[in-house]
Amino acid sequence: FSAFLTDSYGRQHSYLRISLTEKCNLRCQYCMPEEGVSLTPKERLLSSEEIIRVAKLFISEGTDKIRLTGGEPMVRKDLTHIVESLSHLGVKQLGMTTNGLLLKRHLPELQRAGLTHLNVSLDTLIPQKFELITRRRGWERVMDGIEVALNLGYSPVKINCVVMRGKNEDELADFVELTRHKDIDVRFIEYMPFDGNKWVDRKMVSYSEMLENITQMYPDLMKVSDKTNDTSKAYKVPDFAGQIGFITSMSQNFCGTCNRLRITADGNLKVCLFGAAEVSLRDAIRNGCTDDELLEVVGAAVGRKKRQHAGMKNLAKLKNRPMILIGG
Ligand code: GTP
Ligand code: 5AD
Ligand code: SF4
Repeated sequence: FSAFLTDSYGRQHSYLRISLTEKCNLRCQYCMPEEGVSLTPKERLLSSEEIIRVAKLFISEGTDKIRLTGGEPMVRKDLTHIVESLSHLGVKQLGMTTNGLLLKRHLPELQRAGLTHLNVSLDTLIPQKFELITRRRGWERVMDGIEVALNLGYSPVKINCVVMRGKNEDELADFVELTRHKDIDVRFIEYMPFDGNKWVDRKMVSYSEMLENITQMYPDLMKVSDKTNDTSKAYKVPDFAGQIGFITSMSQNFCGTCNRLRITADGNLKVCLFGAAEVSLRDAIRNGCTDDELLEVVGAAVGRKKRQHAGMKNLAKLKNRPMILIGG
């Protein structure tokens, strides 16, 4: 495995998350401030050619999993072209995390282009609440999109549910029910602080609290094994078709097995979800660097990656980007 993608703790970064856009067709409270964010001018975002060049280089160094994020990746006009090109590079897993609004119309063509895995954000099963959380309409379209994904054979379709006290922590059982008959993996995510999302610790519902709550309603809930670099801790109700999981970034970080690097839509390499340290691959590319020089830039940043994030108590004070400009 590439020395450039291995950090000083021996973690091999084989998973690259690429943000394709800063725009979104929703306005989720936990992701962006009400007033929006100031967008990078288009010419300073990575072009599809630049994205493909970087991805190709990472793949040649051992990256075997790419996830497309945003903003909302499906609002990017050349998405199909990007998926097709990345797929031809021979990456093992090519996934996307989306809010689901545009799946019904575009997922069939993305699947043909080579999209192998799909995660959909959905935080409520109540349409009016969807409007409150996302500041937009569209719950039915997301539900239709999930159905389309299941019919196309995405297995499982993962649903990401950010759990927030006073908003949706009363819906956990209803989300578990989604896994009864369908090949769905619902992941309950601890609410994380980012710039502009007004995070306060009492709104965060911890893994232990969620687990206790769900176990009361499903006493048979059982732990199932996690894959090596999974972000989530997996559980299952016996005989249910799907699974549930918990993404415990706050109360029990999983930095020890971190294999993830990120590229922001404006071309910065971000070696940790939390932390302001970033380096511009875009500038290096536009200054005419060779692949070897680009790898040096990547390797230096990866080499400076910290062992773990700053800790639950400190994350809220940290300077970072708003989530919409990171991509999760
Ligand atoms: P899979 O590839 O299907 O396992 O998905 P994933 O969990 O890697 O990615 P996804 O985009 O679905 O993200 C789900 C949640 O996990 C989001 O809240 C992300 O912010 C969070 N997450 C993803 N990667 C990391 C990470 O490296 N560190 C932390 N702390 N959280 C992460
Ligand atoms: N805390 C936890 N998860 C978040 N996501 C977005 N913002 C937050 C936050 N503040 C999740 C979205 C999406 C994934 C990429 O990140 O639900 O599914
Ligand atoms: Fe990796 Fe940083 Fe996430 Fe920890 S917080 S798992 S080091 S990206």
